[in-house]
Formats: sequence, structure tokens, C-alpha cells
Amino acid sequence: MTVHTDHDRAPHAPDEPLTIGEMSRRTGVAASALHFYEDLGLIASTRTPGNQRRYARHMLRRVSLITVAKRLGIPLSDVQEAFADVPLTQTPSHDEWARAARRWKRELEKRREGLERLERELTGCIGCGCLSMKACSLLNPDDALGSQGAGPQRLQD
Ligand code: FES
Repeated sequence: MTVHTDHDRAPHAPDEPLTIGEMSRRTGVAASALHFYEDLGLIASTRTPGNQRRYARHMLRRVSLITVAKRLGIPLSDVQEAFADVPLTQTPSHDEWARAARRWKRELEKRREGLERLERELTGCIGCGCLSMKACSLLNPDDALGSQGAGPQRLQD
């Protein structure tokens, strides 16, 4: 019996769909992850008469968008939301990508601000060591005394 692999296939016509092995190789994403993205409705495939998946070439771009989002730490649920209006039969346009990129940039800015705030609070804790549930803003972020600055505020009154 002869086993054919993706490597054995003749070169593709430009609009010929891709096998899952080809998708995986060209995107660097594991086949299992492609299955998962498909289960989530982020990409779609058709089936051959032999029940093998085939992906339209524009799915490469969708997988690239997902890869970028993952690199940024954007949850897949947010990717779903960002491209909810784009039918799976077409690739996200330049404008749709730009809109998602702006949205994710705002998300990164929010995260950076949160990290900077935590860094300031942690800096205040260095040399303090009170670990007070009331005064330490890292332990009690909503506490009014903690928001006045690091350190045991009541002891300073
Ligand atoms: S250890 Fe955080 S304020 Fe004292």
C-alpha cells in the first residue's frame, strides 16, 4: 500500500484548498490547535468525499490573526468577538484588521497601566514589610488607607 503525504502532492493551483497538514506547516500552528479553532468557529473547512478537511486559502490569514492575538495574550473569546461580523467565507479586510488591532492596543495599554500601578505599589512595599490587610494596597486594593500610599498609614498619623 502506498501512503501519500502532503509532500507528495503536486503544486497547488492558486485557489486550491489546503489540507490540514499544509495549513499547519504554513502557519506553524499544530493540527490539534486548528481543530480547536474550528470548533470555536474561528476558522472553517470543507470536507472531501473521504471526510478530510480542506481549508480555503484565506483561512491562512485568519490563523495568522489568531496567532498575533495569542502572542499579545488576547483571549480567543475576544478574537471571536472582534471578527464576529466577518463571515467565514471571506477574509477580514484591512479595515477590520485595523479595528481589531486598535482594540487590542487599548487592551495592552490598560494592562500596562495596571502593571505600572502594581509596580508602584510593590515598590512602596519594599522596605515596609507590614503586609497589613488594611494598609497594604497589594493585599487590599480597594482599601482607602492603602490608596494613600504604601506603608502602614495609621502608624504615620
Ligand atoms: S507591605 Fe505593602 S504596604 Fe507594607
